[in-house]
Amino acid sequence: MRLLRSVLRQLHRPLNTWTSTQFLRGIPKRRSYATSISAAELEFGQPVHETHPHILKPGEITPGITAQEYADRRAKLAFSLPEGAVAVLPSAEVKYRSGAVFYPFRQESNFLYLTGFSEPQSLAVIRKTGPSLGDYTFHLFCRPKDAFAEQWSGPWSGLRAAEDVFNADSTGDIADISTLLPPLLRDASRIYADVPLHTQDASSPSSSPSTSLTSVLRSLQTRISAVPLAPQINPLRAIKSPAEIAVMRHAGRVSGRALTSAMRRAWTSEKDLDAYLSYAFTQDGLSGPAYVPVVAGGSRGRMIHYTQNTALLREGETVLVDAGGEYGWYITDITRVWPVGGKFGAAQRDLYSAVLRVQRMSVALCRASSGLSLDEIHRAAERALQEELEKLGFEFGWKTDVIGMLFPHHVGHYVGLDVHDVPGYPRSMPLRAGHCVTIEPGVYVPDDERFPKHFRGLAVRIEDSVCVNDDGPVVLTPEAVKEVEDIEALR
Ligand code: GLY
Ligand code: MN
Ligand code: MN
Repeated sequence: MRLLRSVLRQLHRPLNTWTSTQFLRGIPKRRSYATSISAAELEFGQPVHETHPHILKPGEITPGITAQEYADRRAKLAFSLPEGAVAVLPSAEVKYRSGAVFYPFRQESNFLYLTGFSEPQSLAVIRKTGPSLGDYTFHLFCRPKDAFAEQWSGPWSGLRAAEDVFNADSTGDIADISTLLPPLLRDASRIYADVPLHTQDASSPSSSPSTSLTSVLRSLQTRISAVPLAPQINPLRAIKSPAEIAVMRHAGRVSGRALTSAMRRAWTSEKDLDAYLSYAFTQDGLSGPAYVPVVAGGSRGRMIHYTQNTALLREGETVLVDAGGEYGWYITDITRVWPVGGKFGAAQRDLYSAVLRVQRMSVALCRASSGLSLDEIHRAAERALQEELEKLGFEFGWKTDVIGMLFPHHVGHYVGLDVHDVPGYPRSMPLRAGHCVTIEPGVYVPDDERFPKHFRGLAVRIEDSVCVNDDGPVVLTPEAVKEVEDIEALR
């Protein structure tokens, strides 16, 4: 480690294997060095191609997403901002589960979208420097290499990688942020940042970088006020690039196969099924479950966010599984319901088939040419579901909102880096090519004598992740079978 530290201090030539991520925007970085070292001999705070060629192709910063695409995202953001604007993004911080036990680190989604840099204690600054696309500078402040600290924490990437791998125009030690940031903000016409400028207690003992950022921004506030950044990034994040769609398709393909292979087997406990899927979501490059899965036997499926997953599964019941994997930080979101014993009972089959028809109809509306929004597809799904349920003997003539009771959630949401992606981006937007959404109608029948007896206690939700195209949907998760005959044929 001591050696590593001195090597890093004395590097004298560009790390020539890093060049795949350099020379973006036609500006080669120039340094004068006298010795060379392979990047594969160094360690970074996240996989890079040189150390993890089994995970990343040359030029990629995260799986499937190149350094060029990250630079294009920053360029598009800067282009969308007013002249002289500066965007400031603090990273996420490590969160603690209990005492010294921490959760796996997950980067803040907008920071991740614009940098691909997956470390806490970091700050990204994007300054618009002119009117054209590409007129911006990118500054990435993070922890410098520190052999002693990294012996405890595992490796982090350091300042040199901020420039040479993550393509920052300048970098600096995050510990010095209170002196490094003000010069970047001094001439800003407007500062965009999603930090709690007015709410944080100034006497807070915390010295985390986001706290220092808050105090630095606060000190500038008398002449400059920060405005929310997320509304500027959301329209960019909402429309997925071909590379993002390919990444999400891979997440969907592997996750869908995992669900189908789970359906082939006879499970006796929710826990075993949960564990099987969680492992399956680490295969073929996936990094694990994208969210805490729902594995709910029988009437527990009526609890939308049932995640205890500790009960036994019983022959004669169905199991509802809402689970998906993550690939390169992009998620997939799938729900399937199947009979524990392999064959649907008559009522289970009727209710399942009704929801499946509504789901297929709703998926078909996911095309730009329909001009519909998710909200409008939701209303169409509600109407179709009510018609289906009336045919099965459900009555809707009461004063209460019966369909709202049976189908209490929205038909879908955007998906991407987050499960409920681009928070704050409205579902009233007409769908456009590149929007990625879920379609997930469900019916949860209360144990209430106003509903036909044989359906009481049943729960069905069928969910696919879908990419919107001009003329039709591209289902990202078709490998998870959903036709009654196909499910039953698996046993
Ligand atoms: N898995 C969460 C959801 O379906 O919204
Ligand atoms: Mn969902
Ligand atoms: Mn889901």
